[in-house]
Amino acid sequence: MSKRIEISALLKNPSIGETVTVKGWVRAFRNNQFVALNDGSCFKNIQVVINSEVIEEAIVKKIGFHACIAATGKLVESKGAGQAIELQAESVAVLGEADLNVYPLQSKKQSMEFLREHAHFRMRTNTFSAVFRIRHAVAYAVNQYFHENGYYYLHTPIITGSDAEGAGEMFRVSALDAKNPPLAENGEVDWKQDFFGKQTNLTVSGQLQAEVGALALGKVYTFGPTFRAENSNTSRHLAEFWMIEPEVAFNDIFDNMDLAEDFVKYLINFCLNNYPDDLAFLDERIQQMEKQMKKEDRRPMGLLETLRFVVDNDFERITYTEAIDLLRNSKPYKKGRFEYEVEWGIDLQSEHERWLVEKKFMKPVIVRDYPKDIKAFYMRMNEDDKTVAAIDVMFPGIGEVIGGSQREERLDKLQQRMTEMNVHEEELQWYLDLRKFGGTPHAGFGLGFERIILFITGMGNIRDVIPFPRTPGNAEF
Ligand code: 4AD
Ligand code: MG
Repeated sequence: MSKRIEISALLKNPSIGETVTVKGWVRAFRNNQFVALNDGSCFKNIQVVINSEVIEEAIVKKIGFHACIAATGKLVESKGAGQAIELQAESVAVLGEADLNVYPLQSKKQSMEFLREHAHFRMRTNTFSAVFRIRHAVAYAVNQYFHENGYYYLHTPIITGSDAEGAGEMFRVSALDAKNPPLAENGEVDWKQDFFGKQTNLTVSGQLQAEVGALALGKVYTFGPTFRAENSNTSRHLAEFWMIEPEVAFNDIFDNMDLAEDFVKYLINFCLNNYPDDLAFLDERIQQMEKQMKKEDRRPMGLLETLRFVVDNDFERITYTEAIDLLRNSKPYKKGRFEYEVEWGIDLQSEHERWLVEKKFMKPVIVRDYPKDIKAFYMRMNEDDKTVAAIDVMFPGIGEVIGGSQREERLDKLQQRMTEMNVHEEELQWYLDLRKFGGTPHAGFGLGFERIILFITGMGNIRDVIPFPRTPGNAEF
């Protein structure tokens, strides 16, 4: 058997006339003659032509949908439409049969929910293999962007002893015997006897530790899994998701916004430039789906058009106070169509964010300077003593993709906010030390990795852009 060649390499540089071996999964087998073979290396298949005079009947019988085969033969120019080259099989080995009578993924269309229940197979579909190649591309681009711009990748802990961030409910990490935990004198569980000698949880964010890095290495980022035990059963929330958090010494809120905009545009551009086949397929998929929809439910632009529009145009930048004014003067507000109240001091709900992004500005919007009471203790207090230097970046169809801020570098103001918000100083001495010893203004943000992938792939549910989603009641696989 000749050396195996990956299909991506074969299509990029076809050596017509040569004998090669390809291996992959059968995506289709037409007329007992034409195999569409995919090995995951790229979106495209290679056509393998099976000649019944050359390949034994017993083998041909086993070449079915999703079987895994190896085929060796000569590469020739294809006469058929749809592909430039094809492989004329001289020998075929069936590496893994797939019994279609019991295989759950038939070639007919399956619902997203059904595929989620079969997450161990869904990556073999065109849609999910495209999504997961894009997911890889974005992860790669994240590291490339920061490396090219002089940032250092800092690995912040997954298990944390402080729950001060206040970003959400946490998952406890414990090695105590759940049936018979040691008790303290007051009758409560004695966490001092636990593995770390204190209560520990899975992290909700690497930000506080990233600040340590920023005040030493200048520019850092974390990129890792984060965990939130909120009971949010929405198409935008996961209990385990990945977050990218840059943190930069000497940056203020405006530098922070510039970085956020430049960064997400870079990620989108990277996919547009390097994964055109996957994106074109995802675009086409949405157009097909929308044919069955009412006109008003369809997207204003196709997927590729949307992505290009976002990279080619400036994001809108407004303050929270301006956002509230716009909302209160909006048609849906005046006609009582918003479900939630719009009033200065109240957090924006997704219906408000989506009106701003999709109706008012029709492009990504960065809202800044939120009321202090609805934001975390570490955000820098503004001159007005009412708002903090927070930013949220909102995207069409998704809502919030980024949350961040300039950090409070003034020790007294930070301590005051901690007292007001009931954050205990003892737990965060190290964090306060950063203000006592060589403190300086600095800023950062968190980009929800799955949220930006939702946007780039045009998928409708966040559970479909992470290989094995964790959500309330679901930790299968
Ligand atoms: O706005 P969040 O809570 O910000 C922080 O955690 C800050 N410490 C980040 C920082 O300044 N370094 O979360 C950041 C982003 C959100 O904008 C959203 O995109 C995403 O993380 N996110 C979620 N994604 C999926 N599922 C969830 N449950 C998410 N919660 C937040
Ligand atoms: Mg947020």
